[in-house]
Amino acid sequence: MEMDLQETQPSMSFLPPGRVSLRPMTLSDVDDYMVWATDPEVARFCTWEPCTSRDEAIKYITDRVLTHPWIRAICLEDDRPIGYILIMAVDDIRKEMGYVLARKYWGKGFATEAVRLVTTEIFKEFPEIERVEALVDVDNVGSQKVLEKVGFTREGVMRKYLYIKGSVRDTVMFSFLPTDTLM
Ligand SMILES: CC(C)(COP(=O)(O)OP(=O)(O)OC[C@H]1O[C@@H](n2cnc3c(N)ncnc32)[C@H](O)[C@@H]1OP(=O)(O)O)[C@@H](O)C(=O)NCCC(=O)NCCS
Repeated sequence: MEMDLQETQPSMSFLPPGRVSLRPMTLSDVDDYMVWATDPEVARFCTWEPCTSRDEAIKYITDRVLTHPWIRAICLEDDRPIGYILIMAVDDIRKEMGYVLARKYWGKGFATEAVRLVTTEIFKEFPEIERVEALVDVDNVGSQKVLEKVGFTREGVMRKYLYIKGSVRDTVMFSFLPTDTLM
């Protein structure tokens, strides 16, 4: 049975003044999802392995995306996803942010816009949250720049922190507090 996304996720679908908008994902986004999810270069610094088939993509969206407590498609004007951004609970007062864009759209400021939007909304939607974190591979320069541009603080390197594609990687810890200034 296909799950109604509106029932499982808080209603935060909005059109910002910028170029990107965020909305819940649906199963009909599968082909756009596959554009980034099958790309090894996109998955390079992520813990997940690239998706290898449409059936696998449908299963992933059904089992992991539609049931996720907070995940949004990052869309351009045509409302088609170019990637997604998600928030995961670490504990009662911390959430972790993650994001992915299809390679074709890298370097155009879209991730920076999406992270800024979510950082703006997250403390309104979850007033109990004291801190948003992002964990970034030491060699993932683009993602580090995104967070720094939005105003996240680079706290330091967690040595041997994440297992990614066969090796244990050093990881940079970024954070944003509700009292921090969004840039
Ligand atoms: C990380 C990622 C989301 C960045 O998205 P993006 O839309 O390219 O980011 P932006 O265009 O907003 O770029 C922000 C800054 O980083 C720079 N940048 C982007 N990719 C870069 C790279 N590979 N190397 C160096 N700088 C890079 C941009 O030039 C920009 O800097 P500027 O404003 O000074 O020119 C995207 O590369 C991606 O999806 N990567 C694969 C998945 C991933 O690693 N997700 C993050 C996991 S922590």
